[in-house]
Amino acid sequence: MKIRIFRTEEQLADALARCVVQHLQEQPKLVLGLPTGRTPLPLYRALVARHAKGESDYSNVDTFNLDEFVGIAPSHPGSYRSYMSEHLFRHVNVSRRRTHFLDGQAKDLDAECARFEDRILRAGGIDLQILGIGENGHIGFNEPAAELSPWSHLVKLTLASRRANAGFFGGKLTDVPKEALSMGMSTIMHARSIVLMATGKRKAEIIAKTVSGAITTRIPASLLQLHSKVEILLDEDAASKLRSEGVVTSRGGRVHER
Ligand code: F6R
Repeated sequence: MKIRIFRTEEQLADALARCVVQHLQEQPKLVLGLPTGRTPLPLYRALVARHAKGESDYSNVDTFNLDEFVGIAPSHPGSYRSYMSEHLFRHVNVSRRRTHFLDGQAKDLDAECARFEDRILRAGGIDLQILGIGENGHIGFNEPAAELSPWSHLVKLTLASRRANAGFFGGKLTDVPKEALSMGMSTIMHARSIVLMATGKRKAEIIAKTVSGAITTRIPASLLQLHSKVEILLDEDAASKLRSEGVVTSRGGRVHER
């Protein structure tokens, strides 16, 4: 795992945006895996700003979002499709038919998960998967459990996850769906490269466990230790509980190899 530590979340976002744009320039048919949530917002702002400057072309890009709520329409303001449209898609030249989501309104949710996995395969697999992390170590909606699901699947949301998402539903917990569809751990681990971003003191504890703790299904993000191409991008607050040995200074952030 390569860990890069930045002074602020804006610096982190800018470094990652630069890296995504570079990927796009080298590989116009890039397949991107994308998260929602609070953490990636500065990244999406930075990508939009770079696109406005003419640095990027998304016309041949495919995107796959990690998760989506069950039972709400894509046009619902709380859907992750609405989030992506508001924060990234409507500001760049990505084609709507190339932005892929699990359909939480599908009649047969198992068939929908199989369709989504097949669509990823037909796109050639995910080149770059960007992730956030929950305070309990979840990635996507893969929550801590005795067993994890390998492929895209139906998830019963924990109260904590529903509370964390209430902001997207006007603050009303009762309006937050009780279920979601999520990529599974293998879907994520099959990406050719993975970047996990975390910012703020509230993520410090789980980042220390994810990077240096035991590999366990009780901390789904700890499985990333098994992937050969993972970068963890942190601001100083999220990095504050990492042991400091092995941290060296380099351009674009301190780099800590594990
Ligand atoms: C959302 C997702 C989640 C979030 C995580 C952190 O698509 O995959 O795993 O990344 O819940 O959320 P924030 O960034 O709001 O702290």
